[in-house]
Amino acid sequence: MNNRQLFLQHVAQTSDAPMALEIVKAQGMYMWDAGGKQYLDLIAGISVCNIGHCHPAVVKAIKEQAETYMHLLVYGEFVQSPQVAYAKYLTDHLPAGLNSVYFTNSGSEATEGAMKLAKRHTGRTEIIAFKNSYHGSTQGSLSIIGDEYWRNAYRPLLPDVQHLQHNSMDMLGQITERTACVIAETIQAEAGVLAPEKTWLQALRKRCTETGTLLVLDEIQCGLGRNGTLWAFEQYDVVPDILLTGKALGGGMPLGAFIASREVMWSLTNQPVLGHITTFGGHPVACAAGLAGMKALMEENMTADIPAKEKLFLELLKHPKIKAVRSRGLMLAVELEDFPAVQKVIAHCIANGVITDWFLFAANCIRIVPPLIINEEEIRKACAVILAGLNTL
Ligand SMILES: Cc1ncc(COP(=O)(O)O)c(C=O)c1O
Repeated sequence: MNNRQLFLQHVAQTSDAPMALEIVKAQGMYMWDAGGKQYLDLIAGISVCNIGHCHPAVVKAIKEQAETYMHLLVYGEFVQSPQVAYAKYLTDHLPAGLNSVYFTNSGSEATEGAMKLAKRHTGRTEIIAFKNSYHGSTQGSLSIIGDEYWRNAYRPLLPDVQHLQHNSMDMLGQITERTACVIAETIQAEAGVLAPEKTWLQALRKRCTETGTLLVLDEIQCGLGRNGTLWAFEQYDVVPDILLTGKALGGGMPLGAFIASREVMWSLTNQPVLGHITTFGGHPVACAAGLAGMKALMEENMTADIPAKEKLFLELLKHPKIKAVRSRGLMLAVELEDFPAVQKVIAHCIANGVITDWFLFAANCIRIVPPLIINEEEIRKACAVILAGLNTL
């Protein structure tokens, strides 16, 4: 059997239609398959490879850390310099109140940790989340995602969770002294790039403060430069009580985090002690990679020309079959009539060396979430391929 057959036979499948490309190398904006065909990457491993594939600084950091030490002990016991250095760098680039970082293995685990922390810190149980939000696939994070199709098969899920209308002033009154936390994606990604009104997010912040409810903003997908600022919440002039990050956080290695004030985070140290534990969270190699990646993002000023790149995409993506394009920096959803149309365009793109995808809760939209290093020529090429795909509809 060849690798593709072995993949289908022995690697657990999550759908009956995986992309099943056999990629043998990736660098910068590009990937190559086993036959030597080159692909331009428009999805960055779903918002992971913000700085491009295999950034040399990240590769170097991984090699050096792997030769120094890898796993030593479960999270939180030893002083591990890659964790310390990354926590310091992250908190130096966050508002003063967000000064304590709990590193996890994934975004879902960061969501789990934040929910537990909010319950412990407030002594309350109710969690409010939003329709069309995505926060992960573990049972806790699945309980708060905002789409019944994906939740329904796994009931019973977490009790005392409410799903309210995103970006609606009417929901604010439902946040009360019973509510431990409100969890929102700053920009709803899997819903097909839905950005709330600034006035709403600010009102949400205010209502949480009034009721002693923690505001958790999930920037696992929209953070780390994706929207043109380091954090998406900067564009709203609000600061969450807990920030969720992941995906691009590890520079291509598995890493997530929930970040809060030291005072709030302290709740996890007692009654019970070890309130949230993980063997591999904050793995030294992942932290070394993540730190090198975030430094590259900042020092190479990768967010500087995101508005111009976004504008170019918006100028080029004009076609009678496109119903709308929603964007926030280099996070774009191209809305078509339906899922079959999207599938046809995706297939055309892949056949022509451009990798794209759809969105979990917006299957009628094409995902354009490229590495932030994409250049003008690559944007023009990608859009030409997409437009030619639209011509086949
Ligand atoms: C907004 C958001 N939150 C949480 C997650 C879960 O992250 P992970 O897949 O690393 O568990 C994702 C993953 O797509 C996400 O997009």
